[in-house]
Parts: sequence; structure tokens; C-alpha cells
Amino acid sequence: MRVVILPTEKKASDFAADFIKKFIARKNNLVLGLATGSSFLLTYDALIDKYNTGDLSFKKVTTFNLDEYVGLEPNHKQSYRHYMKQKLFNHIDISEKNIHIPECLDGDFESTCENYESKIKSYGGIDLQLLGVGSNGHIGFNEPTSSLNSRTRVKTLTKNTITNNARFFDKSETQPSIAITMGIGTIMEAKNILLLGLGQHKSKAVADLVEGPLSSFCPGSVLQNHENTVIVLDQLAASNLKLYDYYIHSEKMNVEYMA
Ligand code: GLP
Repeated sequence: MRVVILPTEKKASDFAADFIKKFIARKNNLVLGLATGSSFLLTYDALIDKYNTGDLSFKKVTTFNLDEYVGLEPNHKQSYRHYMKQKLFNHIDISEKNIHIPECLDGDFESTCENYESKIKSYGGIDLQLLGVGSNGHIGFNEPTSSLNSRTRVKTLTKNTITNNARFFDKSETQPSIAITMGIGTIMEAKNILLLGLGQHKSKAVADLVEGPLSSFCPGSVLQNHENTVIVLDQLAASNLKLYDYYIHSEKMNVEYMA
């Protein structure tokens, strides 16, 4: 696991955007797994800037989102489809047909989930998966005690997740309590993973994920078993790490070695 600690949210997000850009530069038909929530807002802004300056094109990129709420219309302003349009898709040259969101519009959840898995496979798998982490250690909507081999499925959200995400919903809106999410097994098949953790409120989950025991109680800890994972953190999110100084030192060596 490579752990990159940067001084601010902005610097960590810029690192993430540069990282994504390098992947697209190497393979213009990249299959990119996307995350929603607050963590990637600055990263998506930075990607839009790169697109606007002509440094980056998404024309051939295919995307698969990690998760989507059950029970919201695609154009509901809290649906993850809407979020992706507002925060990224509407501002870049991605083709509509290359966008995939695990949404179920016909009530057939089983087929929706199976088709999502097949679709990912038909593109040869995900080249780079972006992940945030919940304060309870979830990745996607794989809540604590999710099977570490789980596939795309409907998942009941914990109270903790519902409370954390309540900030996005108006008081008058019904907040979904279930979602479709890629499974942990699905995520682990991505060839590369970039997890972005920002802010003090993520520091415990980050420490459990990076340095804790591998346990379904902290679903993100499964990434310790992934060969190509980069954990990108701001100083606050990294503040509970026992080997903090080591990660800084090792990254410095990495940069010197690779220069
Ligand atoms: C949310 C989403 C995840 C997201 C994570 C962190 O509930 N299901 O896709 O990555 O939890 O969210 P945030 O970035 O808002 O802290």
C-alpha cells in the first residue's frame, strides 16, 4: 500500500487529479470507477480545469460509478447520477453512452446487479477505481460486516451512514436507507485503486483501514490485500496513523528514486 500524505485538501485532490490524468494519458480508453460524496469534489474540479485547458479528454473514457441510492429518480437532485452530471459529466467531453451507474429503474434488482457486473467484465474490468471512505470504514456502500467477497447488490445503510449523508438532503426530502453498491469483491478486481481521505473526521477510519487488522468490520481494510492501491490523505485524515513519519519519508524516497 502506498500512502501519500499532503498538507491540505487541495494538494491531496490535485495529486488525485494528476494521478487520474496520467492513467488517461497512458490509456485513452481507460475504464474508470467513480465515487461520489464530498471527498472527490476538488478532484473533479481539478479534472474539469485540465479538460478546459486542453490537457485532458474523456472522449474515450468509460466510467462505472460505485453506488447509487434505491428509490430516487435519476434526475432527483440527490441521486448519484445527478451528482455526477453536476460535478463532472456536464463539464467534460465524456460520451453519455460510456457512463454507467448502478441504478434500478424497473424494480428488478437482481438483474440490475448481475448486468452491472457483466458490463464491467465486458469492458475488461476497471483500470482505476476511485474510492472515498466512510467514517465507519465503508467503501462504496459496503457497510461494516459486508462480505469481503461480495458482488454488486442491494445493501441496507447503517444509521451512521444515513446520518453522515443527511447533510445533502433537504428536511422535506425522504432520504433512502438502501442502495445498490459494487461489492467488495468487485472493487478488489479493479487493477488499480486510489482512495482519497480528507479531514479529521476520517482519521480513525483511515488508521483502521491502513494499519488495523484486516476485518469486515472495517471494510476498507481489505485494501491491504490489493496489490496496487494508493491511499491519498491530507494531514488531518492521516493524523492517527502510527507510521505517519515513515509514510512521509518513504514517499520522499519514492519521489527521489523515481525522479
Ligand atoms: C458515501 C458514498 C461513498 C463515498 C463515501 C465517503 O456514503 N457511498 O461512495 O465514497 O461514503 O463519502 P464522503 O466523501 O462524502 O465523505
